[in-house]
Amino acid sequence: MYAALNTLLARPALYARTGDAFWTDPHISQGMLDAHLNPETDAASRNHAFIARSAAWIRSLLPAGADVLDIGCGPGLYTRRFAQSGWRVTGMDFSEWSIAYARSQDAASRYVVQDYLQMAYEAAFDLVTLIWCDYGALTLQERHELLKRVWRALRPGGLFLLDVFSEVFWAGFAERTSWERHDHGGFWSPKPHLCLQASYRYPERVTLDRTVVLTASGTRSYNIWNTCFTAERLLAEAARFGFAGQAIYADVAGAPASDASETCCVILQKPVGPGG
Ligand SMILES: C[S@@+](CC[C@H](N)C(=O)[O-])C[C@H]1O[C@@H](n2cnc3c(N)ncnc32)[C@H](O)[C@@H]1O
Repeated sequence: MYAALNTLLARPALYARTGDAFWTDPHISQGMLDAHLNPETDAASRNHAFIARSAAWIRSLLPAGADVLDIGCGPGLYTRRFAQSGWRVTGMDFSEWSIAYARSQDAASRYVVQDYLQMAYEAAFDLVTLIWCDYGALTLQERHELLKRVWRALRPGGLFLLDVFSEVFWAGFAERTSWERHDHGGFWSPKPHLCLQASYRYPERVTLDRTVVLTASGTRSYNIWNTCFTAERLLAEAARFGFAGQAIYADVAGAPASDASETCCVILQKPVGPGG
């Protein structure tokens, strides 16, 4: 039993995935939608007071009539605010549940159920947004794929706005293990289950939150990876794909860049001219 439990929580290889879907699992997606819609918490989405402030700041970056794509839009907490203030908006997410909710709240925007690592737009948008540190959840290869696809989706001069967890988040991230029991089901499973959790630090500022869910009928596991960035590291990664750094902030509400912030927001630009 000791060896079996230790194996379940063993430190996996960098960026290993488990094959158990997290964002698109039907049960988890229901709980995730509730978390998105909780106005108070910074969980699946940030708290809604922050989102209102953040959406208003992002909206100030481009005039009415701009074509904007929000990838990983969740239930549309940003997209519907963008649409209300005069942008032409497309929201993309691979969670059917989130997109169904987004559509129910916002008839003006176009919503697409799709993996953003497979999107194939060509020079269609003035701005692409990826909000709440999802860039860092991708492997290096996936980040490169995304940068290529966002580049293609943007018009020359177009902007890519994204946020990531910073060195401050990395410094405060502690390795730990814990367990919980949920006799009547919970977030991870509708069945009674035990939940084992381990957090690990990896080289190159990578963190892992691993969750193993044990029910009477089996075991599922979920690896949530996160890479932390300095603004310089993120700009260098994007520069390899032709992006120019346009501006750096502490967060997606436009707070000035700061060494004390847990997040960093970068606005990248696809240059106008031969490279763009
Ligand atoms: C942390 S939530 C953030 C939602 C939204 N950006 C916000 O701030 O309210 C991440 C979202 O990205 C979506 N997502 C993650 N990976 C994706 C992918 N490869 N393609 C499309 N959507 C993805 C998830 O389904 C989820 O809705």
